[in-house]
Amino acid sequence: MRVASSLCIAVLGLAAAVSSAQTASPSAKTPRHHAAKPQSAPPQVVAQTPPMGWNSWNYFFGKVTDKDIRDSADQIVSTGMKDAGYVYVNIDDTWEGERDKNGVIQTNGKFPDMKALADYVHSKGLKIGIYSSPGPTTCAGFEGSLGHEEQDAKTYAEWGIDYLKYDLCSFIPAVMQKQAPNDEAAQMRLMVAAYDKMAKALKATGRPIVLSLCQYGWDSPWEWAPALGGNLWRTTGDIEPHWDRVYTILSQQAGLEKYAGPGHWNDPDMLEVGNGKMSIEENRSHFSMWAMLSAPLLAGNDLPHMKPEIKQILTNKDVIALDQDKLGKQASRVYSDGEVDVWLKHLSGGGKAIAVLNAGSDRVATHPFHLSLKKLGITGPVKAKDLWTGQERELKDNMAVELKSHDILLVRIAGTAK
Ligand code: GLA
Repeated sequence: MRVASSLCIAVLGLAAAVSSAQTASPSAKTPRHHAAKPQSAPPQVVAQTPPMGWNSWNYFFGKVTDKDIRDSADQIVSTGMKDAGYVYVNIDDTWEGERDKNGVIQTNGKFPDMKALADYVHSKGLKIGIYSSPGPTTCAGFEGSLGHEEQDAKTYAEWGIDYLKYDLCSFIPAVMQKQAPNDEAAQMRLMVAAYDKMAKALKATGRPIVLSLCQYGWDSPWEWAPALGGNLWRTTGDIEPHWDRVYTILSQQAGLEKYAGPGHWNDPDMLEVGNGKMSIEENRSHFSMWAMLSAPLLAGNDLPHMKPEIKQILTNKDVIALDQDKLGKQASRVYSDGEVDVWLKHLSGGGKAIAVLNAGSDRVATHPFHLSLKKLGITGPVKAKDLWTGQERELKDNMAVELKSHDILLVRIAGTAK
């Protein structure tokens, strides 16, 4: 009952604020209102490469239970995802219960014992993540951390939590709009201070906990989140399991590449690979591009019922290696020609990855497309590995590239450094 009524409250009470937050179109040009930079950042001991794992929201939404988390942890091991690099098993919204008389957050009936669940996930050699909000309630209307930040951080550390997604939600109406009506600059300062507060509370626990900011890209978080110890920050509103949304979010990442690096990453939201009705080409392109973007790779699908072709995409080690490359350089969109986008990612040791994405629909003729190596600063001919076929191929300047609608050519050119 608690779940149903809370979701209802969320929909009715917070919809306006959250949806306006999520449709805000963040860009490098968004006016910035944050004041002085928060104090010195804590040492970056986590997220030296983009976090990899799984999160409950994109498939289970508010229905997730303790069992779903255990099953997912089991599957991460048995499917080979763990071997491919997936580590974090993240519980999103709707685990929260009431606070006890001392203000300590409790779980609700879907999660009988969080410490036992964390122990179980750890016993698999994995790490566990949790979710909260700086506001009084979460997006789904459950208990948030407002006024209990230190206490909650301590509870998370006692449970053995390794990752916190901190979602703005009710902080907008309850604090920002209430305390600073009609003063956007003051509202943004309140928001930054709220994230700074939780970052400090987590740091004070002494436990390494990844801090994931979820405030939909408001006020260019890429400019201030690293300084307060944020390890990743959402750059946009929520992803959805269809190509148009995936492609819109992808396009919004162009220009943000200079803000990503070891310990601090742009987050274009969790993966929808295997969700909804995306074609195999769309799933492949989505995964390829998130890897090119050095994005966190948090799968969000139903792992116990994952189809073999989806598992193959999520565990492609060559593609994952682009994402996890230790240089931590996010790809740039170098040029577009019609509906074909060409992205370039620099890799450690002087290597490079090229992605050629046909964003056109079936009805639009985009072919023949000719790849300009020159525009990428590459002299052809050059040998490259096709990361989806595994074949070696030679790239020549102005070579024709035939791609189905929403499909991708993803190749890696080896570096010269030994
Ligand atoms: C917001 C976030 C989502 C998810 C939900 C949970 O919409 O952006 O990723 O965490 O809240 O309520």
